[in-house]
Amino acid sequence: MTEITRRNVLISSSALAAVGLLAACSTETESSASDESGASAAPTGQTQPSGPVTIAQVSDVPVGTVFAFTNPSDGVPAYLLQPATGKFLAYSAVCTHQGCIVNYDSTGMQFMCPCHGAKYDGTSGQPVSGPAPTGLTPISVSVSGDSIIVG
Ligand code: FES
Repeated sequence: MTEITRRNVLISSSALAAVGLLAACSTETESSASDESGASAAPTGQTQPSGPVTIAQVSDVPVGTVFAFTNPSDGVPAYLLQPATGKFLAYSAVCTHQGCIVNYDSTGMQFMCPCHGAKYDGTSGQPVSGPAPTGLTPISVSVSGDSIIVG
């Protein structure tokens, strides 16, 4: 029979504390999908549809406005714009710095990243300030009747 000594109890307590600390660390790693600002990173992509997908109606995006949608080709948030009558552009909403989702500021007519302050031109999607190395990824769209289509 094993005698329980004060030394054995202290060793067992230390081992349990170490296991608890490791568990706490792994939980921290798994839940760190957002950065210090609380902004979320881009979601992972989804399967690609096999054909064209209607993402909006022309009336959803009046001239000078943006329309948020989910890109059917990868499941990632994106924006559709109509900067001039009949001209439609779309960009991924994933910041090219570290992958946070950008917002659209209608007052400044810019895309703004909440994570580290990158700003993109509201029409071209090109970076105008901050750490973004390149412009927002363009998405090819077309118009068919009243529908705006990706793919
Ligand atoms: S992730 Fe957008 S500025 Fe860093």
